Amino acid sequence: MKLSVNSASVPTSIAGVAPSNEAFDEEQSALWHSLIESRIGMILPEIQRSLFERRVKERMKLCGLDVMSYYQLVQIHSPEWQQLVEDLVVHETAFFRHLPSYELLEHRLSLFKTPVHIWSVGCSTGEETWSLAMTAHSHAVHGFSVMASDISESVLNIARSGLYSWRKAEKIPEKYRENCIELPVGHAKHAAHASSMTTQDWQVSDVLRQHVFFHRFNLMDSADVPFRRLQIIFCQNVLIYFRQFDRRDILDALVQRLDIGGLLVLGPGEMVDWDHPAMKRVKHAGTLAYERVKV
Ligand SMILES: C[S@@+](CC[C@H](N)C(=O)[O-])C[C@H]1O[C@@H](n2cnc3c(N)ncnc32)[C@H](O)[C@@H]1O
Repeated sequence: MKLSVNSASVPTSIAGVAPSNEAFDEEQSALWHSLIESRIGMILPEIQRSLFERRVKERMKLCGLDVMSYYQLVQIHSPEWQQLVEDLVVHETAFFRHLPSYELLEHRLSLFKTPVHIWSVGCSTGEETWSLAMTAHSHAVHGFSVMASDISESVLNIARSGLYSWRKAEKIPEKYRENCIELPVGHAKHAAHASSMTTQDWQVSDVLRQHVFFHRFNLMDSADVPFRRLQIIFCQNVLIYFRQFDRRDILDALVQRLDIGGLLVLGPGEMVDWDHPAMKRVKHAGTLAYERVKV
């Protein structure tokens, strides 16, 4: 069968193949799972498998393809592949999600004598990124930038907007609220009254926006990491979805992007058995962090 996939939209030009409603057989399942693992490093949790299968079938139907033709399509038609990726990845996140990590960050930021460049790896909808920016705004006395990346374009769009609900602001420490959050343009009231409001959205303030940059980046391309000479890398709740050997490759690539004296902060419990000749474990209660001590 000839696939015509020139446009960025769903390839409606492919027709004539009756989509199947049958469940994937073992071979088909294995093919799809190995495609996902090799492309995005993710081992699909059991609980997500049937959801994924259903999603693939919906897309197959829309494209008028059977399972194997659709499998071929996603490999050559990147917008179609991206559609599937958006549904696969887990985006759960929160502002100041792991407080001890931010306490460690506060302490370290105050020690740097030059501007601090931070990478928020797997930033999801931006809560981690903006939490890093809020902390740096107060503690990085010589200036800062935050680079944030994720594989999903839809979460990056939310992250870039910097618009959130009041419910999400609950975890932002009081000390950052005055300067770092404000009401959206056009709203009469000031953010200081935030605690008495429950339904309205707020936005991150302009003083943070000018320091923060978002990029789409697949960690499976870790050899081509677009950032270098960083002082801080936050990589929390991302590696848990990857195969063990991919986790190691990714961490090794992150180390290469850190300056000597730079800090790599993982989620507690993630990769506890990892070591690297250039990295020394940092002792700070409740955290899993490493400092780069060698070239
Ligand atoms: C559970 S969220 C964690 C968000 C944030 N780091 C936190 O701790 O709250 C994991 C994020 O990693 C992203 N992700 C998963 N696989 C990825 C990959 N191969 N490359 C880049 N980002 C990926 C997902 O899109 C998702 O937004």
